[in-house]
Amino acid sequence: MPVALQKTSESLSAGAVTSIAEIRQQFPALARVHNGYPVAYFDGPGGTQVPRTVVEAMNDYLFHHNANTHWAYPTSEETDSIIDSARSVLADFLNAMTAEIVFGANMTTLTFAMSRAIGRELGPGDEILLTHLDHDANISPWRALVERGVKIQFAEIREEDCTLNLEDLASKINSRTRVVAVGYASNAVGTINDVKTIVRLAHNAGAMAYIDAVHYAPHGPIDVRDLDCDFLACSTYKFFAPHMGVLYGKREHLARFSPYKVRANTDAVPQRWEWGTLNHECIAGITACVDYLAELGRENPRSSTRTQTLMGAFERREALKMSYRAIRAHERTLAKRMLGGLTQIRGLRLYGISDLTRLDSRCPTFAVRIEGHSPLELATKLGDRGIFTWDGNYYAINLTERLGVEKNGGFLRIGFVHYNTEEEVDRVLEELATVSQLG
Ligand SMILES: Cc1ncc(COP(=O)(O)O)c(C=O)c1O
Repeated sequence: MPVALQKTSESLSAGAVTSIAEIRQQFPALARVHNGYPVAYFDGPGGTQVPRTVVEAMNDYLFHHNANTHWAYPTSEETDSIIDSARSVLADFLNAMTAEIVFGANMTTLTFAMSRAIGRELGPGDEILLTHLDHDANISPWRALVERGVKIQFAEIREEDCTLNLEDLASKINSRTRVVAVGYASNAVGTINDVKTIVRLAHNAGAMAYIDAVHYAPHGPIDVRDLDCDFLACSTYKFFAPHMGVLYGKREHLARFSPYKVRANTDAVPQRWEWGTLNHECIAGITACVDYLAELGRENPRSSTRTQTLMGAFERREALKMSYRAIRAHERTLAKRMLGGLTQIRGLRLYGISDLTRLDSRCPTFAVRIEGHSPLELATKLGDRGIFTWDGNYYAINLTERLGVEKNGGFLRIGFVHYNTEEEVDRVLEELATVSQLG
């Protein structure tokens, strides 16, 4: 029996939306075999696999529409329109306006660009608040502003469950705070932060809120209007699209702050924040990816051919919400099974939320250590058996240092996304149990 993405009771009637088997068929990479084992991709937090339609859209662009922008001939005009439609598809994805969507190489590059631009207006007496839970891409770009005399503060974490200490965070926001930069979810331990509250705390003090949604994007719906954040950055290859980044910025900020840019580049918003020639084929792939996601939760999925021209903005946004409900329900099932199994493994320590009643506060991303085995050794053994995981700090260096694991290999990270199955969860649990017996 194929495992199915469950419909949630409040929104849908009985039955399954799209079965996991059907979903998996759309991802050619999932058929890979390594050393005779079917590959279980638990490396989603480092980058997810892509559905076939994404690659088809990229091929189609390169074969039939390849050109640079803004010239008076068909392939160039088609390129302009492919970029415009990706911008509006991403606006639906984030619940933003198209003028608020900036394309870039990745979240890190976009964040450095934005911190430099914001930093032009900052100096001694200004403060920026960061957290010990964040990926370094939401830390170092802001720490660079120390050169301008800006003071950096850090919000503490609760080590017992790797959650942010919100009281500490609130106590460090004051009238000098200009930016609060925080992750939506931790790429290391899976914690989902209460970003809506953090945005409100920042705004109450007159500060801006910059959200790193890279880890959250494959797991939950993002609504920048509801969050009211000033900026939010993602990397599209973490949610089933090709390797690129996207930044949301409130229109007034994208118009008011000044990017460092070449003179010939337009001053139009948002294009003034896009430097040089973009990765057009990836942009074509991103549209196909959002359409793939929107199709997942449909009662009667359309064929998997490109559907963006058929789908209106409202319809796409509603379909995405439904898809994410189904994704979250499936991921909760996997997380429950995983947490139940991890507690049975001798010498294993989980870092992060383990309470089954708090699954809404975590993504299915698990950081573990097993006594007597380095994370690298564990990842290598699992890899030999076709189970792909990561080891180390995954650039969440403040966290690994704070938890005292940086000096001895960090964690083993096992991350699930919606194409993973309960059978795969059982496989990794069995392998970890076997390794733990070896002492
Ligand atoms: C939570 C988080 N933020 C930021 C980044 C940086 O993303 P990129 O390498 O695409 O710039 C990552 C990458 O792993 C991440 O997981």
